[in-house]
Amino acid sequence: MKRWLTAAEQLQRLAVCVAQRRCLSSGASSGPIPVRDAVLVVGSRRELVERLGSQVEVRTAFISEEEEQALLRELEPGLKKKRYEFDHWDDAIHGYRETERARWGAACEEVLNRLRSVAFPEGSQLLGPVHVLDLDKTGYIKPHIDSVKFCGSTIAGLSLLSDSVMRLVKEGATDEWLDLLLPRHSLYILRDQARYNFTHEILKDEDSVFNGLKVPRSRRISVICRNLPA
Ligand code: OGA
Ligand code: MN
Repeated sequence: MKRWLTAAEQLQRLAVCVAQRRCLSSGASSGPIPVRDAVLVVGSRRELVERLGSQVEVRTAFISEEEEQALLRELEPGLKKKRYEFDHWDDAIHGYRETERARWGAACEEVLNRLRSVAFPEGSQLLGPVHVLDLDKTGYIKPHIDSVKFCGSTIAGLSLLSDSVMRLVKEGATDEWLDLLLPRHSLYILRDQARYNFTHEILKDEDSVFNGLKVPRSRRISVICRNLPA
């Protein structure tokens, strides 16, 4: 049976076979690039990737297998009591259940503190509860911009259980886009223009392709921290 490659295997492939037709965030112009500089962001134009590069970050292996387990142990009991929501046609999210959590056990708090220290400027006022979004295998997030009334300049999220592709599209200029590969265990950060002037979405399994490579999407849980508007 044909097996889809994991994101890590795909990154290996990307590393030895740099597709040059589109713009790569590494800026490499020829030859193989090492896996540690693997391409996690591609876009419609090189200038866009370069300009927005500082406002879009993906950090692979930000959490360990054990840390993912610790997060899941805290989250699963509450999530399992809820049903996935599919039928609100006007919702930005399809096939999901969600929760918020303000207090965490020590292992999880340590992960969240690490996230906060890399994602937010010191002294930032953060939205108190952490947002947890559980997408079913068939679930997806449609293009949207997070409320400017309730959240500030920075959105940071951990990806548990599945790789996925996040797409950013410039509002009012749909030919300007970036795709982010979000491997399981990674952290992504969207700041400033990337957060305010571009919609973001998580592609459904059928459409989940990054730089020409299929990225199979299974159930995915994201743990999202936001700051407050200034
Ligand atoms: C959201 C959102 C992204 C994610 O809940 O507004 O865009 O990583 N989530 O789940
Ligand atoms: Mn959002």
